[in-house]
Amino acid sequence: MARSNPSQEDIALDRLPKAPLNRENLRQTLELARYVRPYRPRFFGGLATLFVSAALGLAFPLLAGSLIDAALHPGQATLPYLGVLSLNQVALLLAASVSLQALCSFNSALSFNRVGQSALADLRRDCYQRLISLPMAFFARRRVGELTSRISTDVAQIEGALIDSLPQLCRQTVFLLGGITMIAFTSVRLTVVMLGTLPLLIAAAVFFGRRLRRYSRETQDQLAATNTIVEETLQAIASVKAFANEAFELGRYSRANARVLTAALGAARWRATFVAFFIIALFGGIVIVLWVGAGLLETDAISPGKLTRFVLYTTFVAGAMGQSAELFSQIQKTVGATQRVRELLREEVEIELPGVGGGTRARDAEQATVDNGRETGAWPLPVRLRGEVVFEGVNFRYPSRPEVAVLHDVSLTARPGERIALVGPSGAGKSTITALLLRFYDPESGRLLIDGRDARDYPLSWLRGQMAIVPQDVLLFGGSIAENIVYGRPGADDAAVREASRQANADDFISAFPEGYATLVGDRGIKLSGGQRQRVAIARAILKNPAILILDEATSSLDSESERLVQVALDRLMQGRTTFIVAHRLATIRNADRIAVIEAGRVVEVGSHDELSAKPDGLYRRLSALQFGQPGDALEFSPTD
Ligand SMILES: Nc1ncnc2c1ncn2[C@@H]1O[C@H](COP(=O)(O)OP(=O)(O)OP(=O)(O)O)[C@@H](O)[C@H]1O
Ligand SMILES: [Mg+2]
Repeated sequence: MARSNPSQEDIALDRLPKAPLNRENLRQTLELARYVRPYRPRFFGGLATLFVSAALGLAFPLLAGSLIDAALHPGQATLPYLGVLSLNQVALLLAASVSLQALCSFNSALSFNRVGQSALADLRRDCYQRLISLPMAFFARRRVGELTSRISTDVAQIEGALIDSLPQLCRQTVFLLGGITMIAFTSVRLTVVMLGTLPLLIAAAVFFGRRLRRYSRETQDQLAATNTIVEETLQAIASVKAFANEAFELGRYSRANARVLTAALGAARWRATFVAFFIIALFGGIVIVLWVGAGLLETDAISPGKLTRFVLYTTFVAGAMGQSAELFSQIQKTVGATQRVRELLREEVEIELPGVGGGTRARDAEQATVDNGRETGAWPLPVRLRGEVVFEGVNFRYPSRPEVAVLHDVSLTARPGERIALVGPSGAGKSTITALLLRFYDPESGRLLIDGRDARDYPLSWLRGQMAIVPQDVLLFGGSIAENIVYGRPGADDAAVREASRQANADDFISAFPEGYATLVGDRGIKLSGGQRQRVAIARAILKNPAILILDEATSSLDSESERLVQVALDRLMQGRTTFIVAHRLATIRNADRIAVIEAGRVVEVGSHDELSAKPDGLYRRLSALQFGQPGDALEFSPTD
């Protein structure tokens, strides 16, 4: 049932789709039970105390009834196996039973929580590990929101099932079956009366339940829509303010908010009716049972103790029935959630990290560190690549857009230590070539040879460990500047970080911050300028000391002083490595060993700056005429991405 103020998480959990409960789905769900396996003793211990506590709960009405009978008819209150007991003996028994029940409940709640939390920590870790090990093609097919929700919402649903629903299911089953049995033993006539009113109650509860669920779903959908508006506007707050669109956004929000109100008010009448009905049903039922029971008392057909027992058991049974609908829907949602999680866990990874596939306990987590260098191919890997790169007739299309061929018969050779520039119009396929080099994707046909071997022969992490990329738009991770630089070679010491920054022309500006290398950047820290971020990325690449370097438009959109600093740093970085430079600004690539002009996915010209400039109607000549038309004035010939 929806509460008046559901949190974001509640909304997400409530909107989870349900899966039909069939044998196959349940079998698959149970496969995730392997996450509970390492904690088996505690799990079964919890289960045992749960059943003891449920059984003691079931004994409560029995003892309570005996208490009354012992008071009214001393010497007549008999209990199975215990015979005749005095009032005080029954009271003592009751107290002992309640205490033991509390103790057992404590143990089972603690056990289920411990098992659930540990198993879920393992599951979350495995999901995350699987996720980051998946190939780029996977991420092109999925939205980020959907993926994060698998780790948060779906896993939270499974957690709820393990910690709440499963124990509830066991307890309520005991109460329902045990309660009905005890009732039948207490008084057959009253049982018939009570069971007579049940079908009506169940039908009404189902009817109201459906209505209410529909309305609360509607309310939550509308609420989610308002939250989306808040998120969107906050993300783009600079644009909202720059366009002075606060009033416009407020209007948008108010309209969405009004829809939430309408939906919520629609539910209100049903909810109020339901509450009224529930009171009539519950108390009315008890009144009927009491009425008939009192009649039986009058004729001494039943003892007061038995009647008390009966009424108490009736509330147990009713409670168990009331909960069953909610439990059922929780189970359906959990089955759905486990399916989506299992789907993720079954995806083919491109990099094997230790411990994929469950069974790793939370306490092993620290030991299972990423070890890129440990994988070995079928032949002895060199310590370092020489850096020869050959694209041989490569054709490629993105798996997410198979209808568009992006690269056609691309052939390119870079000898060790050479600088190869890729130029051409926007969308020609330059970044795609670098993506293939990093093996984010593999060619559809043709070959990519690195040091004379097919790139696919190298262990992926090892290969990427030999390369570094300085992208145009550098995204820094939240953390200190030092942490961001050390990302290039985890474990490098402070002196190495500082030296790399010096070579990247970054040491001066970093040292000028009051907190120096400890300055926080990213979401919660300061914002570095474009040129500063690039120099941090260059320092990171210098620290990595790659055999192959990729610079994607690293020098565009900078002022001339920043550009000079970046350029000097890049020249240092490129020394002794094979470098692929994607550049829109031709001035930066004049001294490349070879320039490849890419147009619509094809290599249309290859040569040095002088050779290409000499071609009478070559594309490069046209492009450079555009840029160097007026001396000293380097224009960009195409918008950057
Ligand atoms: N992940 C992707 N999925 C599908 N298509 C893509 C993807 N990335 C790029 N493309 C398409 O491939 C083509 C080449 O893109 P690419 O990014 O290689 O161009 P580019 O030469 O780097 O352009 P720019 O100079 O603007 O950076 C474009 O048509 C683009 O739409
Ligand atoms: Mg690009």
